[in-house]
Amino acid sequence: MNEKQRLESQQIRQGNSPDVKSETNENLNRLKKLSSDELISKYFQTTYEPPNLKKARSRRKKDVDIHYDFDIPLEMKAAGKGKKFLIRTYGCQMNEHDTEVMAGILTNMGYESTDDTNEADIILLNTCAIRENAENKVFGEIGHLKPLKLEKPDLILGVCGCMSQEESVVNRILKKHPFVDLIFGTHNIHRLPTLINEAMFGKEMVVEVWSKEGDIIENLPKVRNGKIKAWVNIMYGCDKFCTYCIVPYTRGKERSRRPEDIIQEVRHLAAQGYKEITLLGQNVNAYGKDLDIDYGLGDLMDEIHKIDIPRVRFTTSHPRDFDDRLIEVLAQGGNLLDHIHLPVQSGSSDILRVMARRYTREDYLKLVRKIREAMPNATLTTDIIVGFPNETDEQFEETMSLVEEVGFESAYTFIYSPREGTPAAKWEDNIPMQVKKARLQRLNALVNKQSAEAMKKYEGQIVKVLVEGESKKDPEVLSGYTERNKLVNFKGPKSIIGEIVEVKITNTKTWTLDGELVESVVEVN
Ligand code: SAH
Ligand code: SF4
Ligand code: F3S
Repeated sequence: MNEKQRLESQQIRQGNSPDVKSETNENLNRLKKLSSDELISKYFQTTYEPPNLKKARSRRKKDVDIHYDFDIPLEMKAAGKGKKFLIRTYGCQMNEHDTEVMAGILTNMGYESTDDTNEADIILLNTCAIRENAENKVFGEIGHLKPLKLEKPDLILGVCGCMSQEESVVNRILKKHPFVDLIFGTHNIHRLPTLINEAMFGKEMVVEVWSKEGDIIENLPKVRNGKIKAWVNIMYGCDKFCTYCIVPYTRGKERSRRPEDIIQEVRHLAAQGYKEITLLGQNVNAYGKDLDIDYGLGDLMDEIHKIDIPRVRFTTSHPRDFDDRLIEVLAQGGNLLDHIHLPVQSGSSDILRVMARRYTREDYLKLVRKIREAMPNATLTTDIIVGFPNETDEQFEETMSLVEEVGFESAYTFIYSPREGTPAAKWEDNIPMQVKKARLQRLNALVNKQSAEAMKKYEGQIVKVLVEGESKKDPEVLSGYTERNKLVNFKGPKSIIGEIVEVKITNTKTWTLDGELVESVVEVN
């Protein structure tokens, strides 16, 4: 924490503000009429700084500080004894992994986890700001939790994750949901014990959101969700500033972890028997650019390639920084799987330009050709946005033709959603919702068709499946993913959960495969 941040958080702690949590409905109506500044000064001393998207945009040259000395303050070490926590996670893998860190911190404070809101002493909503509907879900959930909070005043209700980095969200919670006890940002996770302490013993809502990028804290505890697959952060933040995207504001500047710290974590996971890791970053291809050594994602993957862990994935790739060195390393195969998620966003060079993606349709297709030459069997998947401001029918058709040309086997498809604070939000969102929906429908029909065709090719083949557990629909059936990320359902003994087995595909569907276990187990622990 720097001096300014320390002062800010002290000011919140020491603030003699009125009790936000016990505002009556009558007062709430008055509050709704106040401006953000009036609200802030009502609740906090004037020096308190709310999150600020403009500030979050700044990228300082300063080196990132790496800390290896995280510890839970003595007075909080047993604060959770006999108590339970529940974390609801929205959004991407980054948030899922942050939840594992928060679970680790809470567990180290003595809390136990629960799935039952009625049992929980602390509930955290780890939120996503990527599209408006993601935010609406969270506000809906805050509303659902209100009666529980009123019934159990000692319950600590916290909002964290990407939405808490947005000033409009913090103001809306202050105004409309003052029963929330705690709001903290994506750079403040390591401060959780102290913030809980403040929420437990203070009267006012605790808000701590640092808009500027955080340091890297290496030794945070984690409770991983499962013993088969694990997330490994290789970098934080994003500097790409695609014009529609809120992530560079909510996650700060690109900060790469030191290679030796990542490799140590992967070795440790291998020693614990994990079968698959996914290297995580918003733009993993920029890995290493901010380090003081000449070292990139290709070099990192090359080292991880030699570690005895059966499967290594990485996400998300940005086409712009996908270099030849990485392709060469991936082409070695082994534990480096040849499934590449390569978001294209649009097939029109003009739309890509206004999205600030910094590549053209032709650049993207050239990269795909290079990848296919080096890895002829690689599976490519993507993300696409439809209905970006001013997107014409012709430009949308270019997206359709690119999807066909590349032959994506699946795609996450989205209707453009303006995000306050991003450049695109200032442009008129001028494609009617009906048109956006019609485009999305056509695109999805094409993606589904391509997915079904890709699946058909597996009929009669034997694939390697990492068995993750019982299928969600039928406990008699096991399920797991192939190397190319296809979900396979098949019958087999529970004892093979966590193993990589061979399965013969007997039936193919649009998104999943059915098969029969081939008796020999490929890898046994
Ligand atoms: N870092 C990754 C993706 C992060 S967000 C990348 O650059 O590829 C996941 C996806 O959400 C994006 O790829 C994009 O397709 C979509 N997305 C981001 N902002 C959006 C917005 N404002 N409206 C609709 N979709 C959006
Ligand atoms: Fe958002 Fe673009 Fe960064 Fe991906 S690369 S997180 S889409 S700004
Ligand atoms: Fe959402 Fe934040 Fe991830 S906005 S997609 S949770 S980085």
